Amino acid sequence: MLLIAKTFAGCEEILSEELESLGATETRILTRAVEFEGDQSLLYKANLHCRTALRILRPMYHFEAADEHMLYHEMQRIDWSEHFHVKQTFAINTTLNQSNLTHSLYVSLKAKDAIVDQFRDNFGERPDVDTERPDLRIHLHIYENQCTLSFDSSGDSLHKRGYRDYTNQAPINEALAAALVLKSGWDLKMPLADFMCGSGTILIEAAMLAMNIAPNKFRDRFGFESWNDFNPELWKQIRRDAKAAEINPDHLQLYGSDISGTVLDKARQNIEQAGLSKYIQLKKCPFEKFPVPATEGILISNPPYGLRIEPADIMDMYQRIGDKMKKDFRGWTCWIFTGNLEVAKFIGLKPSRKIPLFNGPIECRFLKFDIYEGSRKASKQGLNPEDLPGSV
Ligand SMILES: C[S@@+](CC[C@H](N)C(=O)[O-])C[C@H]1O[C@@H](n2cnc3c(N)ncnc32)[C@H](O)[C@@H]1O
Repeated sequence: MLLIAKTFAGCEEILSEELESLGATETRILTRAVEFEGDQSLLYKANLHCRTALRILRPMYHFEAADEHMLYHEMQRIDWSEHFHVKQTFAINTTLNQSNLTHSLYVSLKAKDAIVDQFRDNFGERPDVDTERPDLRIHLHIYENQCTLSFDSSGDSLHKRGYRDYTNQAPINEALAAALVLKSGWDLKMPLADFMCGSGTILIEAAMLAMNIAPNKFRDRFGFESWNDFNPELWKQIRRDAKAAEINPDHLQLYGSDISGTVLDKARQNIEQAGLSKYIQLKKCPFEKFPVPATEGILISNPPYGLRIEPADIMDMYQRIGDKMKKDFRGWTCWIFTGNLEVAKFIGLKPSRKIPLFNGPIECRFLKFDIYEGSRKASKQGLNPEDLPGSV
């Protein structure tokens, strides 16, 4: 069957590699998505194992929807009782692009009416809509009046791994954190640090990768579990195989710090929930005081973008980040992820790579700095911000 995995802009290649390693064939890179062929087993595996996917969709129907009447008519031609029953809940999400229909919420409502009317006509009862946790989540994607109707096999977005709760601040998205670790080229052995670790997401995703822990092993629910064709035996087996493939590396060393004790408490809780306390050490301190734990390693950090900080202070912070890397991280590869392209220049080092990525709508850069041991090359590259290219 044809399947579509959705992701962040800039993560398509890495997601495609993840899917191929699980057995996907005929992968094709789309915008913020990867199309692939696979069977039911691969559908389950992709949900459990893909670190950079946000959802796995199964396209079910294609039809023309040039206006609301066509949409309603086509939606009614589908026998909805084949897919769910009246006591189950559903939700519809719509995305529109270059089409006659221009209001996504209106399209979702019209499509919902068609489903509800069909059930009421046939069974005298209607299923309820539940936008939070529906049994069946339906996606309508209308491009140039052509509609693809897909079922969402994930349910909630796959970045909701189950090890972190969502009552606190807005930390980095888990799938994006995993993408950073994968893109950094970390060899899964070297010490890895995040000196502004917040709730610990980068460290947790890195540890799970190194231990071959399926990123979604802690989730309690996937969309496909409510589907009519759900195969519980196959799902159990896939989860058992995933558990059996986990490893406990002897020398895994992950280090985090943050200036905020409250945030670090949260990190500790998340790390514990993921069962990773043995591998991740945390320290409350400003990044300048972070005790670099080895002569070589990899730093991956996402400092504040500065939305709630005075411009002068954020420039100063990025300058101090550069100073810290030059002074104490010789022998390390340092990666800084930021959505503030202007202040990134104040790091004052020339990045050897600049990877464009999007954090939702925010255009970001993942910047690599090689801080060479002994050669002082990095320090020599400590340039005035004005000397750097206009964009990072
Ligand atoms: C964008 S958040 C990082 C989010 C993190 N990746 C996560 O998953 O939660 C930036 C973090 O930097 C921390 N921070 C701000 N100033 C700092 C400083 N001077 N030293 C260390 N940490 C600092 C904040 O407390 C915040 O947790």
